Amino acid sequence: ALVPMSQILNKAQAEGYAVGGFNMNNLESLQAIIETAEEERSPVIVQLSEGALRYVGIDYATACVKAAADKATIPVALHLDHGSSFEKIIECIRYGFSSVMIDGSKLPFEENIALVQKVVEAARVVGVSVEAELGKIGGTEDDHTVDEREALMTNPDEAKEFVERTGVDALAIAIGTAHGPYKGKPELDFERLEKIRNLVNVPLVLHGASGVYDEDIKKAISLGICKININTDFQQVFTAKVREILNNDEKVYDPRKILGPAKDAMKEKVREKIRLLGSNNRV
Ligand code: G3H
Ligand code: 13P
Ligand code: ZN
Ligand code: NA
Repeated sequence: ALVPMSQILNKAQAEGYAVGGFNMNNLESLQAIIETAEEERSPVIVQLSEGALRYVGIDYATACVKAAADKATIPVALHLDHGSSFEKIIECIRYGFSSVMIDGSKLPFEENIALVQKVVEAARVVGVSVEAELGKIGGTEDDHTVDEREALMTNPDEAKEFVERTGVDALAIAIGTAHGPYKGKPELDFERLEKIRNLVNVPLVLHGASGVYDEDIKKAISLGICKININTDFQQVFTAKVREILNNDEKVYDPRKILGPAKDAMKEKVREKIRLLGSNNRV
């Protein structure tokens, strides 16, 4: 069934596991996420970026996720990833999203707060959950010195004030992860995470989790991360299988014979991540 994201995350927080914020980009990736979550008896958050929504179409995307969620016997949240404006948030709520992220992380502190307050006020009326971001989660291509990296990370005292003044349901924090693949081994600031966890009581979200080592994911969960966002790892296994099939068979032309196995390959990666997060057998 389709449920608000906070219902999923509050249970995860109470029981000490994390739930995947898994990005879908086409029908096969949605099927891979939902089918595997169902098989693993895991709650799941299906999310689309604004780019993915433009690619799929908001009408197709919401119709497909709702059909999948109605059929599923696990809790499913439909979540907007990195929403950039109040207008986009309202559009998604109107189309039936059960959760939205408003990403004001590039704004000055007070402007970020004002934008999130406005979104929370509107979303609350219709029971939709809200995730916000404080601190800057970079792209892997961004080259920063150690001092610059520090400056971009979430300030624990600001996080406390931010959550208290906005009333958000979940907070995305910057502790050293980046979107996309990493060049070397990503170094997470676990001390910072602990400080934030001690000051903030809402579920915390880790973005850019593709490429983060399994032991670091586990440690982050043990220190209070409840939602783990993954896009790139899934895209990479999906495309690797497409490439393998095309390289091995010059005559194949039926998309089902290409995308079907890609979906199956993605399912195994989704399964691996669900078990890593510990959200299996929770329903
Ligand atoms: O956080 C963003 C996601 O990784 C997907 O972004 O669909 O705009 O490439 P994109
Ligand atoms: P990755 O690109 O590292 O998978 O991050 C996904 C993400 O944070 C989506 O919001
Ligand atoms: Zn993200
Ligand atoms: Na990443």
